[in-house]
Amino acid sequence: MDRPYTILSCAMSIDGRIDDTSPERLRLSNEADFAEIDELRAGCDAILVGAGTLRADNPRLLVRSPVLRERRAEQGRTENLLKAVVTRGGDVDPGARFFSTGDAGAVVYTGGPGVATATRCLAGRSDTGPPVEVVDAGDPPTAEAILTDLADRGVTRLLVEGGGHIHTMFLGSGLVDELRLAVAPFLVGEEDAPRFVMPGSYPYTPQAPMRLVEARSLDGIAVLRYCLATEGRP
Ligand SMILES: NC(=O)c1ccc[n+]([C@@H]2O[C@H](COP(=O)([O-])OP(=O)(O)OC[C@H]3O[C@@H](n4cnc5c(N)ncnc54)[C@H](OP(=O)(O)O)[C@@H]3O)[C@@H](O)[C@H]2O)c1
Repeated sequence: MDRPYTILSCAMSIDGRIDDTSPERLRLSNEADFAEIDELRAGCDAILVGAGTLRADNPRLLVRSPVLRERRAEQGRTENLLKAVVTRGGDVDPGARFFSTGDAGAVVYTGGPGVATATRCLAGRSDTGPPVEVVDAGDPPTAEAILTDLADRGVTRLLVEGGGHIHTMFLGSGLVDELRLAVAPFLVGEEDAPRFVMPGSYPYTPQAPMRLVEARSLDGIAVLRYCLATEGRP
């Protein structure tokens, strides 16, 4: 299968939560970590999140640093990344900043009735915004179909940035090459706070673990990098 090199990046608390239950997004990173993530983004062709993250955070998912954007432009690339969102139901907000910002456009991966729903939701967007395409990636959508479509679009390096259901989908598929975790030095302690992953079946077992390739402190945040692609695994 032709697919992009896929990096999953996440910031979490020591108890494995990626947010708390308050309406404001919990800060789990510091400036040094944000700068590294920006560099990581700038080195990728596309960035993917779940519809839950779109609804909760209304993120722009842009390259923040003007220097990094300029570097991309000098390389003949768009200043920002192609954006991708995964939704089962297709109910996406056409006014979300995800769709109105950036210069590389966006793809909505959905399937079944979600295709018509997403197409209807996005029909009212202005023609002047970045282009948006709705793609049928199966019912329900699969990581395999999404990665194949991204490869067909010339994406060679993909950054997956949450949330928990999308981490579950991609880690469960065994199609992630690299995991970057930033672990904040505190616990959230709330039963209903979003988790890094849901219970499920994963190919990374005690018999076939991930390989830790880096562990360091970034102003108090533990940055852990794992290599997931090993022989015998897809
Ligand atoms: N700390 C971090 O690094 C980080 C990063 C990103 C997000 N977050 C946090 O994560 C939270 C959101 O996480 P989340 O788990 O609720 O949402 P999510 O993973 O971003 O998105 C979940 C949505 O994805 C779609 N989906 C789920 N499974 C699917 C499948 N198998 N096939 C196709 N679509 C599927 C569904 O969309 P539909 O409902 O539209 O069908 C579902 O509601 C927020 O609190 C956000 O702040 C944290």
